[in-house]
Amino acid sequence: MRIAMIGTGYVGLVSGTCLADFGHHVTCVDKDQCKIDGLLAGRMPIWEPGLEALVKANVERGRLAFTTDLASAVADAGAVFIAVGTPSRRGDGHADLSYVFAAVEELAGLIDRPIVVVTKSTVPVGTGDRIAALLEEQGAPVGVSVASNPEFLREGAAIADFKHPDRILVGAEDERAREVLAEIYRPLFLNRAPLLFTSRRTAELTKYAANAFLATKISFINEMADLCEAVGADVQDLARGIGLDNRIGPKFLHAGPGYGGSCFPKDTLALLKTAEDAGIRQRIVSTVVEVNDDRKDAMAGRVREAVGGDLAGKRIGVLGLTFKPNTDDMRDAPSIPLVKGLVAGGASVIAFDPVGREQAEPLLGEIDYADNAEAVADGADALVIVTEWDEFRALNLKELAGRMRGRMLVDLRNIYDRAEAEAAGLEYQGVGRGQ
Ligand code: UGA
Repeated sequence: MRIAMIGTGYVGLVSGTCLADFGHHVTCVDKDQCKIDGLLAGRMPIWEPGLEALVKANVERGRLAFTTDLASAVADAGAVFIAVGTPSRRGDGHADLSYVFAAVEELAGLIDRPIVVVTKSTVPVGTGDRIAALLEEQGAPVGVSVASNPEFLREGAAIADFKHPDRILVGAEDERAREVLAEIYRPLFLNRAPLLFTSRRTAELTKYAANAFLATKISFINEMADLCEAVGADVQDLARGIGLDNRIGPKFLHAGPGYGGSCFPKDTLALLKTAEDAGIRQRIVSTVVEVNDDRKDAMAGRVREAVGGDLAGKRIGVLGLTFKPNTDDMRDAPSIPLVKGLVAGGASVIAFDPVGREQAEPLLGEIDYADNAEAVADGADALVIVTEWDEFRALNLKELAGRMRGRMLVDLRNIYDRAEAEAAGLEYQGVGRGQ
């Protein structure tokens, strides 16, 4: 099948590349000439493990192309995916659909036969209806279908998630759209990935519900972590103890500094806006958001207490800045309020992130950067692990302790044990690990 993918951000680039890898002919379109030039030269606009090689292989096989020219991409496509950004709208938290509708307007004039237009971007319930109406209004041919096919990939594991999904969700209102999407995803459901057909509105809302539920698990375990600290229990063991119950499941129960990234914060807010517009209270999700915002803001205070209650004059070493490992993404990262809080309290901060520095610098203000964990430790009063990059999991704690001025290790991702930190001569503070 020939496919056009509008938008070469995370979702568009990964989806387009993986669909090409399945054997389809995919043309990825973006308005940003620089991005397209980079991709044509083999440069990835995002840092995602395995992506560069997969792009290269599929370009070489002639199945993956990049262009700024939507018309040529759409000319012979059987399906056009819209995978442009839907950030939070400044001021009110609604999803900003201006990129989506700009793409649809442009597309409308280019469609000359009944193709399937598919939203892959995370869009509020009812967006598919609005797209269908707009296409009709702009004179697109009768029979053009609009389907919703939300994506559930995680940054850092995006290719594996796309190729081995727990499910493929297709929201469609007509048989032809279902057939076209089933054809596109045939390689996956041959691998037994469940293909789930729902109405278009249900698919749109399901995406938000999935992210809101995952965010709920995280805020839940973070509150349990606070309780564990207060009463002398261990949240890691507690998470295992509840997670082995199949009805709960073991994933997304890692306590930490709060969730960040480009999805959970924006999608939970957008869900609340949808509910507000519909006049339906969503007390659970609104509390999840509040718990998470408070948690991120509280992390600097946690470090302050760990160094004796006063940050003034302290040197704090920060390990990891991105919102999670294996990405350079800094959007809504917990490191941002943490670093700002440390600096506001009078500390000097030195940070190291394996790939996130370039994205981090404009967001974090005047701090120092190092090229490795050892340099971060030099003269530090405390080391704070913020992102659980693999290379931080096997640090030589003894060596780091020897380089520090103080002795405190604040492990916001629980990747070390108190015993091993103490054996290396460090004091240890994890998350939710009461004595
Ligand atoms: C998330 C979802 O996991 C994907 O299924 C979804 O497709 C994607 O959003 C999206 O809507 O596009 P992502 O934001 O890439 O993916 O990253 P996650 O791995 O879900 O992590 C999100 C945040 O939660 C991170 O800050 C992470 O550190 C935090 N987290 C995650 C925890 O604090 N504890 C956990 O147990 C799991």
